[in-house]
Amino acid sequence: MSEILSLSDLDFGQWAEALRRRFEDNAQRALPVGDGPLGKLCEAMRYAVLDGGKRVRALLVYGAGLLTQAPIKALDEAALAVEYVHAYSLVHDDLPCMDNDVLRRGKPTAHVKFGEAQAMLAGDSLQPEAFERLAQSGLPDAQINALTFCLARASGLRGMCGGQMIDLSSVGQKIDIDTLRRMHELKTGALISASVRMGALCGNPCLYDRAKQPLEDYSTALGLAFQVVDDILDVTADTAVLGKTAGKDVAADKPTYVSLLGLDQAKALARRCEEQALNALDRIELCGDFEKGTCRRLRELACYVIGRNH
Ligand code: IPE
Ligand code: IPE
Ligand code: MG
Ligand code: MG
Ligand code: MG
Repeated sequence: MSEILSLSDLDFGQWAEALRRRFEDNAQRALPVGDGPLGKLCEAMRYAVLDGGKRVRALLVYGAGLLTQAPIKALDEAALAVEYVHAYSLVHDDLPCMDNDVLRRGKPTAHVKFGEAQAMLAGDSLQPEAFERLAQSGLPDAQINALTFCLARASGLRGMCGGQMIDLSSVGQKIDIDTLRRMHELKTGALISASVRMGALCGNPCLYDRAKQPLEDYSTALGLAFQVVDDILDVTADTAVLGKTAGKDVAADKPTYVSLLGLDQAKALARRCEEQALNALDRIELCGDFEKGTCRRLRELACYVIGRNH
């Protein structure tokens, strides 16, 4: 276990910053470079991943890895994998055929910078690149298999892509709260949950089994809350702080928690999710198999996700 993960005298901000730097260094090294046409594709892939983003999914990988005493090298690879898939999902989400956004992470979106075809291919290439990272994690085959299944399941039809399809089909429609919840759980919650599960899967399988159910409860609540807060920020935050154009959901007539429930109720729901997530962590620490404080970073991450301003 690397010191960086267990160092208890770092406050949350310092811990997160140290791991964001670690992630950035790893990504700088791991992302491909090349010449000619392939070099251009590498440039777009690097643009999509590097220098930006809160890295919540990577931090969840590291935070969950603490529970199962996972080796840092495996966590590094899992963090890269999940952030590559996330970056690809953002590149495609921003395309004119989807949300048609021009600003992402405070920079022009990938298709504005490189053109649509190149941006699409950069997203396409990041996805298999993610699975290569898992294959190179140095873990036993059974764990690589479990990580691969987890990330594939969360990314595709039964996860992010499925949720994006419901999102696209809902534009201009009145949908009920159950459909909205399902959309959010798939398009965003699935990859958030996968980040937690993957971090835990990188470690001791016996510890993973003991924490499994409450960890699922934690990440389901957190995943929903993440997209509820994203919906809220679209209405309440400024473009300059968000790093993406505010007010897009209303402009595009997208159903969101704010449009269905109103701002106050959406905020109350995010708080209820936070409580559920924290209760699930209490259950892990009370079961007696884990030391007190094991869940500290996951607890702090839940509070960070709900309280964030961008
Ligand atoms: C934005 O995700 C897209 C959603 C799934 C809501 P993030 O808010 O995690 O974006 P970055 O990675 O910090 O830019
Ligand atoms: C995106 O949801 C979810 C993804 C799978 C990328 P949004 O469309 O609300 O994300 P933003 O607001 O553009 O970041
Ligand atoms: Mg979208
Ligand atoms: Mg979008
Ligand atoms: Mg949004």
